[in-house]
Amino acid sequence: MTRKQLAIGTLIDAYGLHPASWRTEEAVPGAPTDITHFKRIAQLCETGKFDFLFLADTPAARTSDLEIWARSPMYMNQLEPITLLTALAGATEKLGLAATASTSFYEPYNLARLFASLDHISGGRAGWNVVTSANDYAARNFGADRLPPHDRRYAKAAEFHGVVTALWDSWEDDAFVYDKEGGLNFRPGAQHALDHDGEFFRIHGALNIARPPQGHPVILQAGASEAGKEMAARTAEAVFGVATEIDAAIAFYGDLKGRMPAYGRDPDHLKVLAGATIVVGDSAAEARARFDRWQSLIHPDVGLMRIRQDIEADLSDLPLDEPVPEDRIPSEARHHRAYFDEIAGMIRRSLTLRQICQQYTRSKVTLFGSPAEIADVMQEWLERGACDGFMLTFPVLPSTLADFVDRVVPVLQARGLFREDYSGTTLRDHLGLPRPANRHSMAG
Ligand SMILES: Cc1cc2nc3c(=O)[nH]c(=O)nc-3n(C[C@H](O)[C@H](O)[C@H](O)COP(=O)(O)O)c2cc1C
Repeated sequence: MTRKQLAIGTLIDAYGLHPASWRTEEAVPGAPTDITHFKRIAQLCETGKFDFLFLADTPAARTSDLEIWARSPMYMNQLEPITLLTALAGATEKLGLAATASTSFYEPYNLARLFASLDHISGGRAGWNVVTSANDYAARNFGADRLPPHDRRYAKAAEFHGVVTALWDSWEDDAFVYDKEGGLNFRPGAQHALDHDGEFFRIHGALNIARPPQGHPVILQAGASEAGKEMAARTAEAVFGVATEIDAAIAFYGDLKGRMPAYGRDPDHLKVLAGATIVVGDSAAEARARFDRWQSLIHPDVGLMRIRQDIEADLSDLPLDEPVPEDRIPSEARHHRAYFDEIAGMIRRSLTLRQICQQYTRSKVTLFGSPAEIADVMQEWLERGACDGFMLTFPVLPSTLADFVDRVVPVLQARGLFREDYSGTTLRDHLGLPRPANRHSMAG
């Protein structure tokens, strides 16, 4: 019997995901806008036979607290993700290419074109991470002072997703016949223009590009709220899990997949990818020592700012070496619920503010260990039904990614837990997802 195998995606930021990665010896100044650097990273992911590389996004630079932000590499200097993925499509052959695009800030028509184009250019390797966004800086770049409330954002996201997928179906798969002899470019009956008058969008038209090779680019999602999980159960094909303990991950997995039959979906058509940060060493202690060196490079103001941002409250008036009073936890999360819950949990466990700053992982499991130890944890999570795979983050690039590719991937392959080579060409092939039939086709 063949073993169930892991799906592996990785969230990439230029220097790595550790807040002090840009200060390490290997960091190349200017990497965030250096396409050669990103090509090298993408090719490393492909050498490791990863399912996909993923780029997160928030369409905003921070414009306040610049003295603090100036000590961090985040948010201020980033290539536009779909543009970057399009360049990476030309530098890779099999690797899936996924990015975030917000339903709060795009028009569906623009977004449908962009991802359809990326899917064509990459030969069927595109994935769209559907987010409603959680950031008022971004809202201010798009005509508002604040984001709309959570339920309104999700109502808009649901309609947005509906019209984007309908636009991708606005041409049948074989609409463009390119018949030189007969002088027919496309079959007129194969266009199905939308006639959509919704609460948020009015669209009367068809996309001006052929149906994507994958039918629809793969739909990814990461919402942890009720509305987020419900939308994922209805529409998502891969979800980034945020549980930090295996039992919570098993519960999340069962919860999400259990919601799918109500929407007529097969639970196997949604892959839950657990978040994990990987630091490979000769031993766990050696790996942790490397990590601690990076931690020591985080400026204390940056540590406090990360907490303030995600608990949505300013704690900078409190002493660093005392527990945070519970009444400083806001009554509810407006933005990233999972991050908020992680910090609130640490406050309730009476950790000091300094400990919270140092231990806060943004809902990520950090695995320190030898290649075999890391493979053991990944295997356990897969076999106990905590995930279908992993959304990995590497703290410092390229070295921690290269360590994983060179040392952990072969162990996973030897155990039959990960592919030796790609067996297909599209992101759907890699993830084992069906290609959606066009809703207008006879076969559909
Ligand atoms: C791995 C991962 C990547 C994410 N990437 C983004 C991103 O690029 N942009 C964004 O606005 N939110 C991102 N998020 C946040 C979620 O997609 C979601 O917007 C947030 O959790 C709020 O939704 P919720 O209230 O349903 O939890 C990410 C979350 C995870 C776990």
